[in-house]
Amino acid sequence: MEIIIQPTPEAASVIAARLIARLVREKPTAVLGLATGSTPLATYRELIRLHQTEGLDLSAVTTFNLDEYVGLPPEHPQSYHAFMQENLFRHVNIPAARTHIPNGMAKDIPWECARYEDAIRGAGGIDLQLLGIGSDGHIGFNEPTSSLASRTRIKTLTERTRQDNARFFDGDIAQVPMHCVTMGVGTIMESRAVVLLAFGENKAHAIAEACEGPITAMNPASILQMHPTAKTVIDEPASTALRKRDYYRYVFDNKPQWQRV
Ligand code: GLP
Repeated sequence: MEIIIQPTPEAASVIAARLIARLVREKPTAVLGLATGSTPLATYRELIRLHQTEGLDLSAVTTFNLDEYVGLPPEHPQSYHAFMQENLFRHVNIPAARTHIPNGMAKDIPWECARYEDAIRGAGGIDLQLLGIGSDGHIGFNEPTSSLASRTRIKTLTERTRQDNARFFDGDIAQVPMHCVTMGVGTIMESRAVVLLAFGENKAHAIAEACEGPITAMNPASILQMHPTAKTVIDEPASTALRKRDYYRYVFDNKPQWQRV
């Protein structure tokens, strides 16, 4: 796994946005896998800037989000539908019909999950998946012990994740839904490129386990060690538990020109 350590979340996010922009310029019909949470916000801000001031055209792009809470309607301010609208979609020119987010209000959740998998397949698969990571190593909402071969399905959120996310729900854990629909770990692993972002000391342990620990369902992000091109882009505080951080810096600083972002 390639690990890129940057001084600040902003610097790391510029790298993530450049990777996405480069892909879209090379392949205007790119299929992007998108994430929510606080982590990708600066990447979205940079993409919006690239669109508004540097002519990045997203009009032929298709997007698939990782996950959605079960039971929150799209208009609920904490739904991931609302999050994407507010933080990316309404500022750029991706046609609404080509943005996809699991429907957490579906009456038949297994049917919805199968439909979502079909839609990803129908679009030709995901070219680049953007990921955050939970403090327990979850990706999407694939909590520890998730099957590393799992597909889009319903999951029960852990108490810890509900606690972590309570800050978006007036600090009240009782308001955080118990269930979600999430792409599976296997679904994520089929993406042709993966960019995992993590910022802050709170993520240091999860990142060290994901990048340097054994591959284990106890830290679902650790399966990315098996992805041929996964990149992990983190800030200094998120890098503090990595044993080989000096080596990662050395690799990044000595990249051949053609490999630079
Ligand atoms: C949320 C999302 C994940 C996200 C993670 C971290 O629960 N489902 O996709 O990566 O938790 O969130 P944050 O970026 O706010 O730390």
